[in-house]
Amino acid sequence: METKVALVTGSNRGIGFEVVRKLARRGYRVALAARRRAAAEEAASKLTAEGLDVWPLELDVSDDASVQEARRLAEEHLGRLDALVNNAGVLLDEDRRLPGLELPVAAVRATFEVNTFGPLRVTQAFAPLLLRQGGNVVNVSSVMGQLASAGPGYLAYRSSKAALNMVTRVLAAELAPHGVRVNAVHPGWIRTRMGGPEAPGRPEEGAEPIVALATLGPDGPSGGFFGPDLERLEW
Ligand SMILES: NC(=O)c1ccc[n+]([C@@H]2O[C@H](COP(=O)([O-])OP(=O)(O)OC[C@H]3O[C@@H](n4cnc5c(N)ncnc54)[C@H](OP(=O)(O)O)[C@@H]3O)[C@@H](O)[C@H]2O)c1
Repeated sequence: METKVALVTGSNRGIGFEVVRKLARRGYRVALAARRRAAAEEAASKLTAEGLDVWPLELDVSDDASVQEARRLAEEHLGRLDALVNNAGVLLDEDRRLPGLELPVAAVRATFEVNTFGPLRVTQAFAPLLLRQGGNVVNVSSVMGQLASAGPGYLAYRSSKAALNMVTRVLAAELAPHGVRVNAVHPGWIRTRMGGPEAPGRPEEGAEPIVALATLGPDGPSGGFFGPDLERLEW
């Protein structure tokens, strides 16, 4: 059987890094994608030192040219894609600090560029590789994007993840006939640069539901929003 291949965006640190490690331990060849080449190479070298099959790839999800070049390189070096994990995300400082009425629209736009348009742009670019044999797209979302529990603050982040959830639903419906599943997941509140030092979960724990959804078989669900224990979440 051919080795399965995965790509994880924004995986030089945080939850994404642990997703790469876990997928590689399961026997996947994994593209560790980061917006800066040096960061991708440094992170990948830590995992290759553990004997894992990890390949560094420069990929800025907010930049069309970067995504196209990454796709070209992946086509050349990997030849197939079984799992795409759209993990890269931002929570801007202004968004943490300011109420919605004071938040510059530019900050909202910058957040959408990474958190919503990024996954769409990357999925569009890599779909031809995924469609060859079917596979899984996992969009790393958040309960902060839940309409059902929306409250004050974090207008840009919340809105970008709510929109990502809709991207998930539409693409899931469109790709179902091609054997590609598309799901959204909330990894839990995790101790990373974004999650902060008070967060209870370790990055390894946050990676678990993401890896489970990235490795679903043909009978797995699609178009769902899942929590840390793979429980179904309200949209
Ligand atoms: N931590 C939590 O509690 C939590 C909860 C719910 C959901 N999430 C979601 O989980 C995902 C991972 O978050 P995390 O906690 O691991 O955050 P993190 O430690 O801050 O890592 C974010 C990653 O995204 C990358 N990134 C940012 N902009 C990018 C771009 N334009 N192109 C490519 N990569 C980019 C960063 O790269 P650089 O190193 O270059 O900045 C970094 O590798 C995010 O989608 C986040 O929204 C996190």
